[in-house]
Amino acid sequence: MTRHFTTIAEVSDEDLARIYELSVGPFDDTTLQGQGVALVFERPSLRTRASSSCAVSELGGFATFFSDEEIGLDTRESAEDVGRTLAQMYAICAARIRHHEVFARVAAATQDRMSLINLLSDVAHPTQAVADVLTLAEHFAAGDVAGLRGLSVAYVGDATNVTRSLAVALLRLGVDVSVGAPAGYQLTAGGLEDPLALGGGGTLRLSDSAVDAVTGVDAVYTDAWVSMGFEAETAQRRQDLSAFRVTADLMGRAQPGAVLLHCLPAHRGDEITDEVLDSPASLVWRQVFHRRSAMRGVLRWVKEEE
Ligand code: CP
Ligand code: NVA
Repeated sequence: MTRHFTTIAEVSDEDLARIYELSVGPFDDTTLQGQGVALVFERPSLRTRASSSCAVSELGGFATFFSDEEIGLDTRESAEDVGRTLAQMYAICAARIRHHEVFARVAAATQDRMSLINLLSDVAHPTQAVADVLTLAEHFAAGDVAGLRGLSVAYVGDATNVTRSLAVALLRLGVDVSVGAPAGYQLTAGGLEDPLALGGGGTLRLSDSAVDAVTGVDAVYTDAWVSMGFEAETAQRRQDLSAFRVTADLMGRAQPGAVLLHCLPAHRGDEITDEVLDSPASLVWRQVFHRRSAMRGVLRWVKEEE
């Protein structure tokens, strides 16, 4: 059966464990020998495009990049016809899309002939979450993902697509998660990547105070206040989220030795200060490094069943 990877929630615990394992396996293999991966980007990207391109090449495949301007998903032609076309030539389509529902439409139109990987949608950023888990495991548990059980991670700021995938991944590993966000920016129930729908695993605590969320935690995570697509709300968001900036003072409320994570790009002076981002506590460049590890793991896993 063709495998897709569009949320963390849709993947079983066993398969997630396999993805983490495959992510850190040796570099050179022939998983994608002679096969193509279509990289479709409806929105800008640096890390995701770079890590995807490198990982495809490391696995012996070839990647072709398509921008929204070229393809025009649902403007130049329907997403279904884009999918049907790509499925004639590519084994995998990895896409950064505005509307998550496009994955289901393309899967139906192509009768699941082509694996789909979500490189960020309005709902989820699951390859980022895999990289974040690998980064935390490397720092706190000598690379053993299962060793993260009992860790505590606070997310501070706008609860985004990144927050959802991160929280689902961490909670399922038994990590305790707190989310500090003001009203209107906090996690809400529902959707395909829903940390509030999980039973068991770690605990999830929602707070309207950044200090409350980070007190005593092992790691603090933040993301942009203005995600792609929300640019018109920039002034309002800066005002609403100003008490949720990750500063050295805020980091001081966390456990001594606590680390800082950020998916990047960072908006220095908004959600994070230079002092914190550039401090020894910051693991952001290991996160970037593990974006490539994560892509190898996900690409290998989608091909493994064939
Ligand atoms: N973190 C992340 O997805 O970065 P890019 O938007 O640069 O790909
Ligand atoms: N939440 C951000 C993540 C960027 C990697 C966005 O969607 O723009």
